[in-house]
Amino acid sequence: MFKNLWYAVEFSNEIATNPKLLKILNRELVLYRTTDGQIQAMNNACVHRGAALAQGYVAKNCIICPYHGWEYQPDGTCVKIPSQSPTATIPKQAKITTYPVREKYGWIWLFLGDGEPCELPSIPNFPQVESNGFRAIQGKFHCNANYERVLENILDFAHAPFVHARAFGDPNLPGFEDLVVENYAGGASAIVRIAATPPKGLWKFLVKDKRELVKTRMGFFLPNLSFLDIYLPFGQLTIWTAHVPIDLHTTVSKWMNFRNFFTGKWADRDTYNRTIKIFEQDKPIVESQRPQLIPTDLNAELYVPADALQLQYRKLRQQILIKN
Ligand code: FES
Ligand SMILES: [Fe+2]
Repeated sequence: MFKNLWYAVEFSNEIATNPKLLKILNRELVLYRTTDGQIQAMNNACVHRGAALAQGYVAKNCIICPYHGWEYQPDGTCVKIPSQSPTATIPKQAKITTYPVREKYGWIWLFLGDGEPCELPSIPNFPQVESNGFRAIQGKFHCNANYERVLENILDFAHAPFVHARAFGDPNLPGFEDLVVENYAGGASAIVRIAATPPKGLWKFLVKDKRELVKTRMGFFLPNLSFLDIYLPFGQLTIWTAHVPIDLHTTVSKWMNFRNFFTGKWADRDTYNRTIKIFEQDKPIVESQRPQLIPTDLNAELYVPADALQLQYRKLRQQILIKN
């Protein structure tokens, strides 16, 4: 794992003042929001007998264990043990480990590393959260694969005519021009024009007769965020996804989908179903990949020009692996 990086782990709007369990990298944490809007993240297991704090509740910004009622303030220090007299000393060890947490771009970010956290990634071109022209929906998708295999699948242009032939990919036109990779701090993207089959269902009402190549930008920010901008002839569709590693072989991809066409609520279900359908087409392929973890040796798998963005992802992660 890349310890000293921020992971996008949850949608901002999923965390309120009630405690919520978050599983990440074989750990269980609890997240909640204090009355001033700050997010707190700490180990889920109570230091007394290990009961799940996520099953407790929050009062006056303290999280209260459901088993014997110990109260922990936001910095994790226990401030009350109901079974002892209020004047009795609270053991110093009665403290839950907390983690740095931030909120930006509609995500909650978590730092599980050592020492002082680095800066949050600065993401260019993330306008849709604030923009009125876009309608946003969100969802989650579960995959029994390592999060890096899942993320790399988003960066892969060449699978569309095969895996998504029944959705949008055109199996008769599987080739495309060479990718030009654009680099950012901690990430990269590439644009390509993909031959697409005419859309079905609701979207077919937006299409003119002429078939056009669909400009698509795919990209990532380390360690676990991917994005996809699809410039359809009738509007833009953008999908940002935080691929949350539950453990080495399980990923929950939490996605935000923005569209600037059919912006009414009435089209949300159709957009949701389309997004899930694409993930479902990818799932059996990604789950079948071996080795299950991306090799750390850059020469262990083959690359052709269409894999340039994946290769850039691997190169960047390589640099971080060396630093860690
Ligand atoms: S296990 Fe939490 S108070 Fe006892
Ligand atoms: Fe795909």
